Amino acid sequence: MKTLIINATPCNCESSISAQLLAEVKQKLADFTLLNLYEMDDLPALDAQGLGIFFKMQGNAELNEEEQKIAEKRTALLEQFKAHKRIVIIYPMFNYNIPAKLKDYLDNVLVPRETFRYSEDGKLTGLLNDGREVIFIQTSGSIFSENSEFAELEFAYFYLDAMFKKLGFAQRHIVRAEGSAVLPKDVVLEKAKGEIGRLV
Ligand SMILES: Cc1cc2nc3c(=O)[nH]c(=O)nc-3n(C[C@H](O)[C@H](O)[C@H](O)COP(=O)(O)O)c2cc1C
Repeated sequence: MKTLIINATPCNCESSISAQLLAEVKQKLADFTLLNLYEMDDLPALDAQGLGIFFKMQGNAELNEEEQKIAEKRTALLEQFKAHKRIVIIYPMFNYNIPAKLKDYLDNVLVPRETFRYSEDGKLTGLLNDGREVIFIQTSGSIFSENSEFAELEFAYFYLDAMFKKLGFAQRHIVRAEGSAVLPKDVVLEKAKGEIGRLV
């Protein structure tokens, strides 16, 4: 099964835990598509223009040439996302949330009538409910598991997990490379690599 790896790590430097875990995932997989969000200079965002395009696409309204290019990028990202039944997302936690580019990316694939829909009674149905799997690999300075004092600040994974549940992904997993601010880096890395070995 082909996997889509979404890399939301800004720095591909050797010292980066996220970058090292990305390398680990790539090594484990024979068949994958890699999307480096921070290397894309054309990732559509919901800014003033992007929002206008979003509404025009929803209403099948006419687009000008510039808007058409952005709409095509949105569609290509959406089709790529839907075509992969297994997704791995690697991201560092920033200010208790996901990196901004990852949110921009999700705004391209969380699209009504494409990946989810509301029924007339307002009920939400995920349209990707055909046995899909997602693995979140989250790196963080603090520890969020085991009822730590930071647990109530865990918005990043809870947000992602809720969104993918909403899309219909039945299997959702988290690998936490957590505590790099308080534990030796090797300890954090080895534990995360072990979990990646079991899941990926
Ligand atoms: C601007 C910034 C904000 C951060 N915010 C948080 C945070 O809110 N909570 C946390 O646990 N770690 C935070 N960190 C630490 C990073 O999550 C951690 O260094 C990173 O996940 C380790 O991966 P890396 O080596 O790939 O950077 C932050 C780091 C930076 C640079």
